[in-house]
Amino acid sequence: MSFLKEIQRRRTFGIVSHPDAGKTTLTEKLLLFGGAIRVAGAVKSNKIKKGATSDFMEIERQRGISVATSVMGFEYNGYKVNILDTPGHQDFQEDTFRTLTAVDSVIIVIDAAKGVEPQTEKLMNVCRMRKTPVIVFVNKMDRPAGDPFTLMDEIEDQLKIKVRPLSWPINNGPDFKGVYNIFNRSLKLFTPDIQEIEERIKFEDISDPTLEDHIGEDADVLREELELVEGIYPEFNNEDYLSGELAPVFFGSALYNFGVQELLDSFVKIAPTPQPSETEERVVKPEEEGFTGFVFKIHANIDPNHRSRIAFVKICSGKFERNKMYKNVRLGKSFRISSPTAFMASQKEIVEEAFPGDIIGVPDTGNYIIGDTVTDGEDIHFKGLPSFSPEMFRFVENADPMKSKQLAKGVDQLMDEGVAQLFTSVFNGRKIIGTVGQLQFEVIQYRLEHEYGAKCRFEPLSMHKACWIQCDDEKVLTEFKKRKHQKMAKDKLGRDVFMADSSFILQMAQDEFKDIKFHFTSEF
Ligand code: G4P
Repeated sequence: MSFLKEIQRRRTFGIVSHPDAGKTTLTEKLLLFGGAIRVAGAVKSNKIKKGATSDFMEIERQRGISVATSVMGFEYNGYKVNILDTPGHQDFQEDTFRTLTAVDSVIIVIDAAKGVEPQTEKLMNVCRMRKTPVIVFVNKMDRPAGDPFTLMDEIEDQLKIKVRPLSWPINNGPDFKGVYNIFNRSLKLFTPDIQEIEERIKFEDISDPTLEDHIGEDADVLREELELVEGIYPEFNNEDYLSGELAPVFFGSALYNFGVQELLDSFVKIAPTPQPSETEERVVKPEEEGFTGFVFKIHANIDPNHRSRIAFVKICSGKFERNKMYKNVRLGKSFRISSPTAFMASQKEIVEEAFPGDIIGVPDTGNYIIGDTVTDGEDIHFKGLPSFSPEMFRFVENADPMKSKQLAKGVDQLMDEGVAQLFTSVFNGRKIIGTVGQLQFEVIQYRLEHEYGAKCRFEPLSMHKACWIQCDDEKVLTEFKKRKHQKMAKDKLGRDVFMADSSFILQMAQDEFKDIKFHFTSEF
């Protein structure tokens, strides 16, 4: 197959949802279609039920054994589909945001009864910012749900995107009869006990009286509602979807494997092929010959005997070949990648080559950090992997004086993995760790102890925000740093960060130093 064809047949996407909407269930059903797994129940939920650290560690341990769950690739009707898994727990949302930089499109799962939930909104904001095309899957139609028109309004208002139903439900809950596929004019009937793939019944003309034979008096309601759908919503236009302005909507029930094949069939047809990526220097197109990619995730194998890690590299351009030397631009050094893994059919295996849109796992002993650019020589830097201003802060102290080296190394590596962010106070040199949620502190403590043999203690620190500061006028910047000396810190890359105690103090500083820009993500 030609290089171009390989690119064009790739679909790399992420599934996101508010916890419990059905992301894991849908992922699993998609994998069943792709033949990537053979039995239901093979995909482990990455949900943290009680919010306990032990839960998280157990999940990570399982994933360590089968890293395949982070990226799942399969062949479907000539397409190569790559699904990127995102953590469900909100304390790990930064990991999710970073994963979204490596996808070309997103499927958002919504619980039909609950509608748009807070996490859905947050994730949609990220998609909007990056203009990522999204498809909405309204799940759990087998359960009592609200009126679909009201739900469409809610999606439009809260997710701030135009919607276009491509399928339409016939009732819901115990009366759920199935969906009418507007896209290919066919009816699909729901039978809760049968998880086999049912035939679709073609209805070129919805006024066909035999529709009554299948869904009885609901036929008239369906006709009326479809007329309304045509009247209210804009016609489906692939351009609008690809530019992130319009979200096609599908209805179904992932648990009963209903509506999933429709989703997948439409998805491979309309979803974007690998897209160009921005670097600080220029835009990189997938079909360029030179190999480029970036690290968006680092995964530690939670095996205390092997402190090996896997760096996940998203290929942006060119063909990747095993055993070639590739350059880590940040280090200015090249490395031979001799056992790259791909994630096909639920297991990881060594690959000889890979193409734009693919994700490869590179075994790593500490050479890669999140955001690294890998090329076959060119010095470019991929954009779009910012650190976000954390929301919780603690001083980290060594709890075992004999192990200070181990602690330093552990903290260093965990920060490279993007578990949390480290700041060093300019005033007194104390180390401050910033996270999005409490769970991360527990995970850090646990991993430091189990993987690095180091013990740490966290000391409370009441802090509102850490913001990266920037100013064209050196004098103003110096003056600011002098005045705020006690509250200045450096991030891991040595950039200036202002640690504001409260929103009031931040506001005061912003008012007083109008020429200084205060950034809440590290990329500006
Ligand atoms: P998540 O990854 O988005 O967090 O959700 P997940 O797929 O784990 O689904 C959450 C719960 O919703 C699960 O039940 C799952 O079985 C159920 N579910 C998913 N899709 C459907 C659907 O289409 N219809 C119905 N009725 N239920 C659905 P649970 O009891 O919380 O999980 P488990 O304990 O059975 O694993």
